[in-house]
Amino acid sequence: MEILGVDIGGTGIKGAVVDTETGELKTERLRLLTPQPATPQAVGEVLKQLVDQIDFDGPVACGFPSRIINGTVLTAANVDKTWINVPIERLFSQILNRKVFVANDADVAGLCELKFGAAKGRKDVVLFLTFGTGIGTAIFYKGVMIPNTELGHVELNGGDAERYCSGIVKEREDLKWKDWGKRVNEYLQHMEFLLSPDLIVLGGGASKKFDKYSDKLQTRAQVVTATNLNLAGIIGAAIYGERCLEEEAQQGTSKPAAKKTAAKKAAAKKTAVKKTTAPKKEE
Ligand code: BGC
Repeated sequence: MEILGVDIGGTGIKGAVVDTETGELKTERLRLLTPQPATPQAVGEVLKQLVDQIDFDGPVACGFPSRIINGTVLTAANVDKTWINVPIERLFSQILNRKVFVANDADVAGLCELKFGAAKGRKDVVLFLTFGTGIGTAIFYKGVMIPNTELGHVELNGGDAERYCSGIVKEREDLKWKDWGKRVNEYLQHMEFLLSPDLIVLGGGASKKFDKYSDKLQTRAQVVTATNLNLAGIIGAAIYGERCLEEEAQQGTSKPAAKKTAAKKAAAKKTAVKKTTAPKKEE
């Protein structure tokens, strides 16, 4: 299936048409700047420009850096606060004049690693993490994802974990890789305490420099870097879109079946009534 996958971030909105069977990009990756302030309408308009420039009229799916439940944004840790309670799927669907699917950015990037990357085929507990402006988290077990885990906001060192060891904290505090690695190790150990993952996949920019801090990581779980790096968000969004379309199709085909059952039940009820009333007449 070909779906336009879009990765909406704080500085850039990136997209490409993805073949969800192979994970290949069918068009070049296009990146437009995220508008500032990144209000819902402004982001929606840049999304429209991106879709128009790619010139694609098929389904669109996006990753967005917030907790998203039933197509609505519920948190805004690193995005404009006006996003809270915005029905993002409805807004984007109206702007693009087609159905648009939206899920958490880390969840969709994790889906990509699970289908095509470092966690391909894994059935045990996989924890996918991104260390960028925030810490994104996604969890899978037997290939099933528990969405919106938001474990970048657990308490660590007396505060929000992502303010202690995200990628941007390393830059802001000018930490050496080994010092940042020690913080990441604390975080990973806390994740192990909570979730006992078998595999931890590190995404985001910092995974490119893994060898500079990997010796500071002491975990039971195997720790590896993501294979799709900056494309995971785009490819994963498309995979998410495909899942949603498949679910919709299944629901569509299950409706007539449900009606049949209801009709059969009604017919059975009629027969039962006839059967019980008939002997009464005879009495
Ligand atoms: C947000 C998450 C997001 C992560 C990575 C966090 O601040 O709360 O929703 O997945 O950043 O972008």
